[in-house]
Amino acid sequence: MDNGTGAVLLNMSNITMEFPGVKALDKVNLAVRRREIHALVGENGAGKSTLMKILSGVYPYGTYRGEIIFDGKTCAFPDIRQSERAGIAIIHQELALSPYLSIAENIFLGHERARYQVINWHKTREDALVYMKKLGLAENPDTPVNRIGVGKQQIVEIAKALAKEVKLLILDEPTAALNETDSENLLRLLRELRDAHGISSVLISHKLNEVAAVADTITIIRDGKTVETLEVGSAGIHEERIIKGMVGREIIDRFPKRSVALGGVAFEVRDWTVYHPEQAERKMIDKVNLTVRSGEVVGIAGLMGAGRTEFAMSLFGRSYGANISGKSLINGKEAALTSIPRAIEMGLAYVTEDRKEYGLVLIEDIKRNTTLAKLKKVAAYNVIDDSAEVREAEYYKRTMNTKAPSILQLAMHLSGGNQQKVVLSKWLFSDPKILILDEPTRGIDVGAKYEIYTIINMLASQGMACILISSEMPEVIGMSDRIYVMNEGRITGELDGKSATQEAIMRHIIQT
Ligand SMILES: Nc1ncnc2c1ncn2[C@@H]1O[C@H](COP(=O)(O)OP(=O)(O)OP(=O)(O)O)[C@@H](O)[C@H]1O
Ligand SMILES: [Mg+2]
Repeated sequence: MDNGTGAVLLNMSNITMEFPGVKALDKVNLAVRRREIHALVGENGAGKSTLMKILSGVYPYGTYRGEIIFDGKTCAFPDIRQSERAGIAIIHQELALSPYLSIAENIFLGHERARYQVINWHKTREDALVYMKKLGLAENPDTPVNRIGVGKQQIVEIAKALAKEVKLLILDEPTAALNETDSENLLRLLRELRDAHGISSVLISHKLNEVAAVADTITIIRDGKTVETLEVGSAGIHEERIIKGMVGREIIDRFPKRSVALGGVAFEVRDWTVYHPEQAERKMIDKVNLTVRSGEVVGIAGLMGAGRTEFAMSLFGRSYGANISGKSLINGKEAALTSIPRAIEMGLAYVTEDRKEYGLVLIEDIKRNTTLAKLKKVAAYNVIDDSAEVREAEYYKRTMNTKAPSILQLAMHLSGGNQQKVVLSKWLFSDPKILILDEPTRGIDVGAKYEIYTIINMLASQGMACILISSEMPEVIGMSDRIYVMNEGRITGELDGKSATQEAIMRHIIQT
């Protein structure tokens, strides 16, 4: 074959999987060849993660129907260990490393370099170094993994897979939390593994530009069914083509238009300065000045690690930082946002990028997650009015188009994108005047992104003041009236949303 791929390595056929009330997969087929990068794409809740969890034995044989043939053998994995033994390794989006163990220990965790029950540390280090070198990870193998960035942790996960002699590497949204440099490194690594070691990978990603750039083959699934498999070939493939397969129609304009008459300054921050919570002399945010008018969407662009999340959290009830100084004003009046409940009461809402840690209570259902930030809105005399709560939750589920069998579904059973919609519902329910959105579309499919943009526009037209933090420059440019550029905790530029370009933003980032 022209791109050097080989014979079939994996054949999953007629895979069907049902959860209570949900048919997650309906006779799905997936064929992966040796020596290829195979992208698996589809809308939120399409069934991508479920399919890969079946393949890797997370959901054991017997819980699904259909057939898996891997490396010439029919597979019936009872657990992950067995799929690993066969040569399949899965890297989940939530990394599974042990934070306090060293890089070397993590690489060989579960199959330690040992003799007579005694771990051979010397060999552990030596072998780890071999894999680290292969992957270009220049760190001391004794470093605890919580001291290296997410990008490098991702590479440790790959080293771990290589140490198990992997034939197929599965990566579930590996670049969602990575900056551009780390993402590029990771994708380069996948190519290297393919070309130098003949390792295939299955890449799940919502970043269709990287899918178009790196994949040899693309399988699209929609609503639990295989839609099509595209061969990328030497001519390449357009993102628009992938989108069409995913959503079943063409999306002409990715950013819906908004025309809102701006009101007065609704929110203002003056000389906002924040220090690191543990390292007293480390300044994280340095004299930031910012204004947002009612009806305005103000973007904050910057690279990951620029301090934008720390800034937002320090504003939102001082949930980050120490020794905070500066002023915050709402409608021109100084507002002391000294705690999260106080901030909510004053009309602030913070939609976080880290929905598992700060946005949702995973063991609660959609209903309670929706009303959580302002329970008293559905309570009388401190008792929750169940029918009022149901009514509200139903309203938001409908408005946000959240895909779940009912509002009683637990948050932990929702797909990533639908979890994000519940986080948005929760904050809209709290009736905010000032909405801070921190990477609101991370891990969200194109169709749902469009819906979220439409919701943002609707909120702005109702007079809400929105701050949009995003690392995706097209998104900041497409959605903002005005853009601040942040770098190393400082505002380094301010641009008009209509005329801003990626180059102009980059210039303000690099200048500092
Ligand atoms: N443990 C579970 N219990 C009940 N339903 C589940 C469970 N896991 C997944 N589902 C449902 O199965 C469907 C497929 O989910 P899956 O996580 O595979 O989607 P996905 O394609 O990975 O989406 P995303 O892009 O948002 O990660 C969704 O409707 C989801 O709500
Ligand atoms: Mg998923």
